[in-house]
Amino acid sequence: MAENRPFVDERLQHIAFIMDGNGRWAQKRGLKRQEGHREGSEAFKRVVSYCADLGFKAVTVYAFSTENWKRPKEEVSSLMKLLERYLTSSRDELMKHGVRFRVIGDKSVLSPGLIKKIDNMEKATADNPLLLNFALNYGGRDELVRAFKKLVDSGKTDITEQDISLALDTFDCKDPDLVVRTGGDLRISNFLIWQAAYSELYFTDVLWPDITNEHIDAAIHDFYSRQRRYGGVES
Ligand code: FPP
Repeated sequence: MAENRPFVDERLQHIAFIMDGNGRWAQKRGLKRQEGHREGSEAFKRVVSYCADLGFKAVTVYAFSTENWKRPKEEVSSLMKLLERYLTSSRDELMKHGVRFRVIGDKSVLSPGLIKKIDNMEKATADNPLLLNFALNYGGRDELVRAFKKLVDSGKTDITEQDISLALDTFDCKDPDLVVRTGGDLRISNFLIWQAAYSELYFTDVLWPDITNEHIDAAIHDFYSRQRRYGGVES
């Protein structure tokens, strides 16, 4: 309900989601896993709109990991088709909510058609204020390896933490304040492993396609109940 809607301030500018549980959502209903991903993509759209309404500056979602290629071919291709469909149908929605779509991850292995659609959406939404990092063929370790290669190629030798942050796919974006994982597992699964060093982590059993605004509100309220010390002591 609107009156319970949390207030998002400078302490909570970037929220990230590990969107887990699509497969179980489908299995529980006797459906194919792909159906879970289809429902999950609807949940993803709802969540992005809600985060825009709440006033976040950045949202990052884990859509497809570098390890997800190991899944059955049919499942991988249905996820790629869902993404293609999203890219061809969601421009107005993204513009309406002021969302800047941007893929993080290694795009180089994607099909040329998909890369073109991604590039087009990135260009069309480039001036919008809410950054949506869509993690696709993304792995935290892979991102770090690519970042280190960039630094080596640039000839840098005296490398600082800031150099590494600036060489990551998220170079222009504050680290996530809050990482939410649905689906009940208590792990980070190679997601934003550098950037989430001091993020607050929130785990919920709800399966991703079932996520509602109220679940997000609960995560936000929980965030504000915590003390962030970044390794220091309480002031
Ligand atoms: C993990 O659940 C989820 C994924 C690997 C895919 C996440 C993708 C979406 C939510 C859709 C993204 C949006 C678009 C537009 C493509 P799982 O399949 O591992 O679930 P399980 O743990 O229950 O098996």
